[in-house]
Amino acid sequence: MKALVTVTHPRKDSLTYAVMDRFVEGLKQNNHEIDLLHLDHDGFDPIYTVNDEKDWMSPDKIYSPEVRKEMDRIAAADTLIYVFPLWQYSVPSMLKAYLDKIWNMGLFGKMGEKKVLWICLTGGDQAHMLKYKREEILTHYLNVLVSGYARVKESKVELLHDTLSESKQHIESLLDRAYQLGLEYK
Ligand SMILES: Cc1cc2nc3c(=O)[nH]c(=O)nc-3n(C[C@H](O)[C@H](O)[C@H](O)COP(=O)(O)O)c2cc1C
Repeated sequence: MKALVTVTHPRKDSLTYAVMDRFVEGLKQNNHEIDLLHLDHDGFDPIYTVNDEKDWMSPDKIYSPEVRKEMDRIAAADTLIYVFPLWQYSVPSMLKAYLDKIWNMGLFGKMGEKKVLWICLTGGDQAHMLKYKREEILTHYLNVLVSGYARVKESKVELLHDTLSESKQHIESLLDRAYQLGLEYK
């Protein structure tokens, strides 16, 4: 399987990056082909321009070379994995900008056969995330609203809770979980 793994974090020494590394390590054990996109470090321009918006619903829209390049990476992949921290109970602005620009109408007909996995690191622990239906709302947003809007075949969310914990054992368990997710990914 060809996997496009997209990671979003300003710091390469973050837990988010460590989770992405362990996930990719697991994926590699499975002999998956991996394309890695570092949203904050590969020069992705998050500004949504007049040209991006112009004729956004038209099937004949001509996309900029930068946008087309990222659309082609998606088209070439069987599965898309996004690794990111929970910010304001949503995706970080870089990832939102990517979704706005790249998950565009030009791709919508091509997402039907793709799988998406959202790996989200939450500062809150599980009890915090269950309160006020935070977990349910976030999962619904990602699986039903975002993936559903793009007609993605299968979308799943994996939440890694309590990422600010001072327990080394807990942090190790999150990294082990990331590795297992990669290892068992089908
Ligand atoms: C701008 C910002 C917004 C955040 N918003 C939330 C939030 O809404 N809910 C939450 O549980 N944690 C929130 N956090 C905590 C992050 O989820 C946490 O810092 C992250 O998961 C830790 O991983 P990292 O070391 O890779 O950043 C926020 C952190 C930042 C910097």
